Amino acid sequence: MRYTGHMNKAVLMQQLADTIIDKGVCLELAKTATHLVIGDGNLNTDIVFIGEAPGKNEDEQGLPFVGAAGKFLNEMLAAAEMKRTDVYITNIVKYRPPENRDPTPDEKKAFWPYLLKQLQIIQPKVVITLGRHSMEYFLPDMKISQIHGQPKRIKFGDDYLVIVPLYHPAAALYNGSLRQTLIDDFLNVPMIIKKL
Ligand code: URA
Repeated sequence: MRYTGHMNKAVLMQQLADTIIDKGVCLELAKTATHLVIGDGNLNTDIVFIGEAPGKNEDEQGLPFVGAAGKFLNEMLAAAEMKRTDVYITNIVKYRPPENRDPTPDEKKAFWPYLLKQLQIIQPKVVITLGRHSMEYFLPDMKISQIHGQPKRIKFGDDYLVIVPLYHPAAALYNGSLRQTLIDDFLNVPMIIKKL
């Protein structure tokens, strides 16, 4: 079989998942979780979405955004004429926190280097953060209420990366005005990408 770039990335991503398990990253969370949820989608994409942490459905299936928030995310992707199979989707924290509590600062810090490694493997042009937990390391000291939907260019290695901070679909799902704001921001994403 021919060894393609895509296979190479898949191998690297699998090795990264194995490393997280072997090193016992966030062992306390690992103990109560069913699966490590490393991420899902196209490894040759320009666009990576980063959520907070797996919920119940994600933990059961080992895949990100497959519950109610994921359904809403799928709807917005479709409305923006983006296919889920064209993008990569992951979370800052890769294990489900018990009772879906917020991830702690220590948990986010423990997974941050692995998130960076994922981005080094994929090499996207745009990172779309969903909610403040995945935004805060890319854009420290910024407030999501003030910068949502606005592309921010940051230095990433020798290159630049555009961060588009969006509200989290789970937060916006049952909040009428947040919901509309998120949909509006989302529909603007193809324009932002086109301008890069
Ligand atoms: N919410 C998240 O932040 N991530 C998921 O994978 C599912 C729900």
